[in-house]
Amino acid sequence: MACEKSKILIFGATGYLGKYMVKVSVSMGHPTYAYVRPIKPNTNPSKQQLHRELESMGVTIFEGELDEHEKLVSVLRQVDVVISTLAVPQHLEQFKIISAMKDAGNIKRFVPSEFGNEVDRVSGLPPFEALLDNKRKIRRATEAAGISYTYVSANSFAAYFVDYLLHPHDLPEELTVYGSGEAKTVLNFEEDVAAYTIKAATDPRVANRVIIYRPPGNIVSQLDLISSWEKKTGRSFKRIHVPEEDIVKLSESLPFPDNVPMAILHNIFIKGDQTSFELREDDLEASNLYPEYNYTSVDSLLDICLVHPPKPKLAAFA
Ligand SMILES: NC(=O)c1ccc[n+]([C@@H]2O[C@H](COP(=O)([O-])OP(=O)(O)OC[C@H]3O[C@@H](n4cnc5c(N)ncnc54)[C@H](OP(=O)(O)O)[C@@H]3O)[C@@H](O)[C@H]2O)c1
Repeated sequence: MACEKSKILIFGATGYLGKYMVKVSVSMGHPTYAYVRPIKPNTNPSKQQLHRELESMGVTIFEGELDEHEKLVSVLRQVDVVISTLAVPQHLEQFKIISAMKDAGNIKRFVPSEFGNEVDRVSGLPPFEALLDNKRKIRRATEAAGISYTYVSANSFAAYFVDYLLHPHDLPEELTVYGSGEAKTVLNFEEDVAAYTIKAATDPRVANRVIIYRPPGNIVSQLDLISSWEKKTGRSFKRIHVPEEDIVKLSESLPFPDNVPMAILHNIFIKGDQTSFELREDDLEASNLYPEYNYTSVDSLLDICLVHPPKPKLAAFA
């Protein structure tokens, strides 16, 4: 379905996912805006450079803090769609955006920062459950404020997790496998996560709905991934299995925030929560909804990694 061009405002535009989101929004022809933290004397010069790059792409930058309510309201009144890709520690800061959107009264769609599991259908070990719960709180506040939403369950970021699991830059002889390695997970290339999100955020069919990114070519287990990588590289890798009990214990014993990745690894790769529920007839799945979009399958991403492995720079995975 063809979508009208919308004025899209992105929070977190300078972050890992945010940069993909901005690029795709501009390339799809949407007037694109970014609400970014002001440059201060102690701001890293690379951030200033990034702001200039955004401007040179045609992005309109608004500088401000999330607690500048009046400024936020006046910025929001100039746009139609709001997408947040704020970092995990800032998830609850989105209450401020919701409050400003309520006062602005004109926002046609809000996509809160989630981009992981379908939080209303899964659960995790306590350190991960706390993150899921923050996302649920933002969902409920959005609904209570009467703001039209799209909730994105993007499952796992492929470039990041391929790098984490396979280390394609170094080609080590041994690879770590969490648990048995058989649980199926969903690895979606970051550029596709952004493309599906921009499409969904401007698509009337996805108003007040959850959309799940589970394209068939991206459902893999750790063992599938390693076997495919062995075929492509012509090498064999020793699999070092970390038992489930060890990961559970680490999630209990490590201090915050180091306990969080353990609980996430458990949820995604041992419990297999991203594929633990069947999609129902009325569920919206991205590759079904946008069959014309040519997503990069995990297999194609491994081909890219053979030649030029992406170097994902993530603060933490969540
Ligand atoms: N499914 C997966 O595999 C996966 C993996 C990673 C992330 N995610 C999800 O994707 C979303 C985005 O994560 P990310 O890794 O892209 O985040 P990120 O790179 O850490 O970027 C976050 C953005 O938040 C901004 N920010 C940080 N602190 C702020 C503050 N105090 N006030 C205002 N803005 C602030 C940053 O702005 P500055 O540039 O000014 O610092 C940056 O633009 C999150 O919801 C995360 O859970 C999912």
